[in-house]
Amino acid sequence: MATSVDQVRIAETLDVGALAARTSSVLERLRDSARSARADERREPTFPIGKAAELVGRTTAAIREAESDGRLVAPTRGENNRRHAYSLAQLNDMRGTFGTRPWRAPSDPVSILAVQNFKGGVGKSTTAVHLAQNLAIRGYRVLLIDCDSQASATTLFGYVPDLDLSEDETLYPYLREGERETLEYAIKKTHFDGLDLIPANLRLFQSEYELAARMARGQGALLNRLAQGVASVSDLYDVIILDPPPALGAISLSVLRAANALVVPVPPTVMDFSSTAAFLAMLDETIQELEAVDLAPQLSFLRFLASKVDDTKSMQKGLLELMRQVFGNAMIRTPLKDSAEIDNATARLMTVYELNGPMTSKQVRDRCLTYLDGVCGEIEIDIRATWPSHLPRLRKEGLA
Ligand SMILES: Nc1ncnc2c1ncn2[C@@H]1O[C@H](COP(=O)(O)OP(=O)(O)OP(=O)(O)O)[C@@H](O)[C@H]1O
Ligand SMILES: [Mg+2]
Repeated sequence: MATSVDQVRIAETLDVGALAARTSSVLERLRDSARSARADERREPTFPIGKAAELVGRTTAAIREAESDGRLVAPTRGENNRRHAYSLAQLNDMRGTFGTRPWRAPSDPVSILAVQNFKGGVGKSTTAVHLAQNLAIRGYRVLLIDCDSQASATTLFGYVPDLDLSEDETLYPYLREGERETLEYAIKKTHFDGLDLIPANLRLFQSEYELAARMARGQGALLNRLAQGVASVSDLYDVIILDPPPALGAISLSVLRAANALVVPVPPTVMDFSSTAAFLAMLDETIQELEAVDLAPQLSFLRFLASKVDDTKSMQKGLLELMRQVFGNAMIRTPLKDSAEIDNATARLMTVYELNGPMTSKQVRDRCLTYLDGVCGEIEIDIRATWPSHLPRLRKEGLA
């Protein structure tokens, strides 16, 4: 009978467990066909000597000299005696040797920066991961904390979050108050020297319920738990970047409480702009509520980033202009344009910074790097401006 066939079909589609298993196995195949390396097989980017010199803040001649007099180990040579490019770890050795590390002084406050907007899909994780990698390439000690159970940032480091990671390797045990003293247990090295990651997986969602339930029982101070965790490891870093989930929940509020700087990505579309207005209204309300319980965030800067910008669309151009008027100096001047290079890198679960060559064309990659470096460079200046020890240098560079 037709109905029984239909019933079988319905029963099949209702077997969520089987669907989940099938989806996971397809995902595995997609990963293989995308040739996306797993976390332990990832390679850090490399830099030819000219780029290395620029990043380290010394001339190529100074690098060669330090190599010939034994202060630095020269890179190995490949076929036809060509020097291999430098790894990030080698760049950091050079910075140590030349005294050009850009680290904060111990008395400067660690920068705890959340890339936040309650709207989904606006480019939070893309911005957070590229910013973390950019700052690591520039020599800072960076920790990226994935606070979202969707784990997009974690995925971009080569993890299959629900396969490779247990909940005990995420924020979850720490947020389940009292179990751990510090967040150190969750810190993982990444394939970028100087960049560490606290990963997430789906189980972290459990915290959302648990925190909400305990807060409903009057334990509002729990919103402080993430801030305490961040403080427990902050001595090790210059910058700690938080990638929160899109919804307004206990974790997002905890992120807001923990952060001392905010970057808010906003694509220039009417929908995203209007939800950002709602985000700001909620942010204002939330800050007042947190103030009432002595948990107000102390923000040293709040910046808006035009993200996923497609300026071939006249509507977007108009909105970008409007955003500049509304946000004024709080707007990051460089827009993060929508780029096929980012799109293609993400499709391989990778980032633009870890690839040594273009996914598209050299021209598209170079353009994309100009936006990314521009955006990250502006944020880097904001961060350094919060460090008293950096102020004289910023003034000398004409940046403060
Ligand atoms: N500048 C860009 N150019 C091209 N694609 C982009 C750009 N920024 C983001 N994307 C793509 O848009 C999608 C959403 O981006 P992303 O995951 O960074 O957003 P999100 O705000 O973190 O989302 P969620 O709210 O789900 O956490 C991703 O597929 C990402 O690759
Ligand atoms: Mg995200």
